[in-house]
Amino acid sequence: MVLSALLLVAFSSICVNAANLEIVNQWNFLEFNLPYDYSLIGAFRPENTVFTGLELTDDRIFMAIPRLRSGVPATLTSIPRNTAPGSSPVLQAYPNWSFHSAGKGNVSSCSELVSVYRIRKDSCNRLWVLDSGIMTSLEDFRSVCPPKILIFDLRTDQVVRTIVFPRQVLRLNSLLTNLIIDENTQGTCDSAFVYISDTAAPGIVVYNSAQDTAWRLMHPAMYPDPDFSDHTINGESFTLMDGVVGLAYSPRLKTVYFQPLATDRIFSIQTSALTKGPLAENEVLPIELVGKKSSQGLGLTVDERDDTLYFSPLTETSVATWNPRSNRQTLVAYNPDLLQFLAEIRWNNKDGDIYLLSTRFQKFFRRTVSGSEVNLRILRSRVRSSSTPFENNVYY
Ligand SMILES: *[C@@H]1O[C@H](CO)[C@@H](O)[C@H](O)[C@H]1NC(C)=O
Ligand SMILES: *[C@@H]1O[C@H](CO)[C@@H](O)[C@H](O)[C@H]1NC(C)=O
Repeated sequence: MVLSALLLVAFSSICVNAANLEIVNQWNFLEFNLPYDYSLIGAFRPENTVFTGLELTDDRIFMAIPRLRSGVPATLTSIPRNTAPGSSPVLQAYPNWSFHSAGKGNVSSCSELVSVYRIRKDSCNRLWVLDSGIMTSLEDFRSVCPPKILIFDLRTDQVVRTIVFPRQVLRLNSLLTNLIIDENTQGTCDSAFVYISDTAAPGIVVYNSAQDTAWRLMHPAMYPDPDFSDHTINGESFTLMDGVVGLAYSPRLKTVYFQPLATDRIFSIQTSALTKGPLAENEVLPIELVGKKSSQGLGLTVDERDDTLYFSPLTETSVATWNPRSNRQTLVAYNPDLLQFLAEIRWNNKDGDIYLLSTRFQKFFRRTVSGSEVNLRILRSRVRSSSTPFENNVYY
């Protein structure tokens, strides 16, 4: 492993790849297939409804919409995969509205979904839905249900497994926001290891799905850095002291990358250190500093074909890469309009494309968002050969 690289996005000094940014779908505000239920329709606050999670299957795109503030009708939704480029499809509640009574302000049963930040599919055509259990986390942080994972079979859209976490791995203000399904270390699907970020009580929860056991690992690198709690995007600033949230996994290097939101650093840890069990007293997790970035970021992903790590410095409204083998850095895309607050960067193993979830989160957060502009986008980037000069093409 390369020790510590300086992951600076400097436009003059690093090689720039040609990436065409295609707009898959875009919305001013999200729209839902709301049922005729006045308590749901009346509670909907589009200006509070912003997605943070993305997953793609062969036929659908799934989006997670956490209940950061009140008025989010459904916290997990889907749209068909092949809608017209740049269109604004209506979001379907997943699997149906009976899982989303929290959209009316209260949860009627903890078997429903409370607030989902991210979702991931496994190799058995199942969707792992990580539910934080926390309502209105930015307003009053109401812990209404224990956090859980629901696994849906994507053929039937039925829940096939429910995972609840032992009390010992949680803290009073735990907020589980992201997950990696490691299907290489122990086995696939119901034998996978799962690595889960706790963003508000910083830590990583490891779940051994073969044995239904879990443990909690903590390290100062998972905490927010107060020097990086102010985030600036296109001149607008907001303060968010979030700990570890960005996660990525390289199966070949057996490495998990992670970053708190409030930091300029990316860290890594070997999966063997995660899976070997709880730390002994006074044992320290072997965490490595991957490098420093020009600004904070959220989404991370690994292109599994060559282990390239993708990240997005928020202030530079760009996507950059670092390859751990060659130590080569690349600026893949720069676009102040399209690349605002990338909550997800996802390498898709089916087509090798990079999918980006872009929102003007700073405007939602500061309540300056306007319904007369495009605020939410799913983008696709086709990274082409590095010898082609950078073109900032946008295809609708
Ligand atoms: C939610 O439930 C609590 C207690 O069960 C109740 O006091 C409150 O009025 C309910 N709120 C709404 C909006 O239904
Ligand atoms: C909602 O989805 C669940 C899971 O697929 C299913 O069991 C249930 O029957 C559905 N309810 C309605 C009203 O369609």
